[in-house]
Amino acid sequence: MTTVPTKTVVVTGGNTGLGFQCARFIGRDPDVLVVIACRNADAGQQARTRLAAMGVHATALTLDLASLASVRAFVDRFRAEGLPPLVGLVCNAGLQNAGPAQRTVDGFESTFAVNHLGHFLLVNLLLPDMAAGSQITFVSSGVHDPEEKTGLPAPVFSSTQAVANDVEERGLPAGQRRYTTSKLCNLYCTYELARRLQASNDPRLRSICVNAFDPGMMPGTGLARNYPAPIRFAWNYVLPVLRLFKRNVHSTVKSGQRLAALSMPGANRPNGQYFSDGREARSSALSHDAGNARELWEASAVYVGISGDIA
Ligand SMILES: NC(=O)c1ccc[n+]([C@@H]2O[C@H](COP(=O)([O-])OP(=O)(O)OC[C@H]3O[C@@H](n4cnc5c(N)ncnc54)[C@H](OP(=O)(O)O)[C@@H]3O)[C@@H](O)[C@H]2O)c1
Repeated sequence: MTTVPTKTVVVTGGNTGLGFQCARFIGRDPDVLVVIACRNADAGQQARTRLAAMGVHATALTLDLASLASVRAFVDRFRAEGLPPLVGLVCNAGLQNAGPAQRTVDGFESTFAVNHLGHFLLVNLLLPDMAAGSQITFVSSGVHDPEEKTGLPAPVFSSTQAVANDVEERGLPAGQRRYTTSKLCNLYCTYELARRLQASNDPRLRSICVNAFDPGMMPGTGLARNYPAPIRFAWNYVLPVLRLFKRNVHSTVKSGQRLAALSMPGANRPNGQYFSDGREARSSALSHDAGNARELWEASAVYVGISGDIA
């Protein structure tokens, strides 16, 4: 590998599943250094080694989205590394908790905290580091939309405070609802950030594009890791067959390639849009509730201790 990378793209959860494949495809551009942000340092180093063997310029840095202190430490470390200019941020990491609800060290329900709040802080802290024309992508999911009839419970968003403290109800459907709600939050965050960047007086901030991505169902990933064993078996060995005849069911390779393509900066990039099954799509009616999006943004800013204003 002789090329010296001239730009950096960060992929959260880049050690496995969709994030690994996305990092692999982004790294096909020899000008790019891919930073995989992983909660497990060993898993991050192993993935970095695999990416390097594929010819990808990659670095692994530790990031646990369940800890606001870890998000801040990641950003400090990222800056200390002196990497090429940051041009892309892929907010991919996520979890679905099929067991009893848990609170993070900061006291928030863990699905909300990892899938939304940690990424919210990460994006806000990294905005000053982003070059003009950068690209931010939030990995959401079609399960945010009850019209998609995915079999998962509809999201419920009454207020950020309710979602952040949604720990009482037990059982699998409650865990799934927390997940679909977190994926709705990803869309609120995408649309609100895009609106705020567009309203900025700073041309650099106005030039940053933000989009949301639905990878489709990707059976076999680690997302079902704490489901009951029979469901895990079906997820790993039966449901992949659906790729042959059901729309929007994909391998991580296919969705990772699409996510990488959406997440690289370039001319005439889309902005403030939702992509599903490889094309621009209309997300649910609820996801376009601008009042909810603003409330989520402002409450999240209070939770993580930032102003939330984009200069
Ligand atoms: N699979 C699907 O059918 C599907 C469908 C729609 C959307 N999605 C979305 O696609 C994204 C990737 O999911 P996947 O299917 O590839 O699942 P996956 O294989 O479980 O990968 C999830 C990634 O997120 C990381 N992660 C989890 N908790 C974290 C934390 N606290 N801090 C930092 N990283 C954390 C995991 O790290 P570890 O390896 O250390 O656990 C892993 O790298 C998620 O946002 C998911 O919601 C998936």
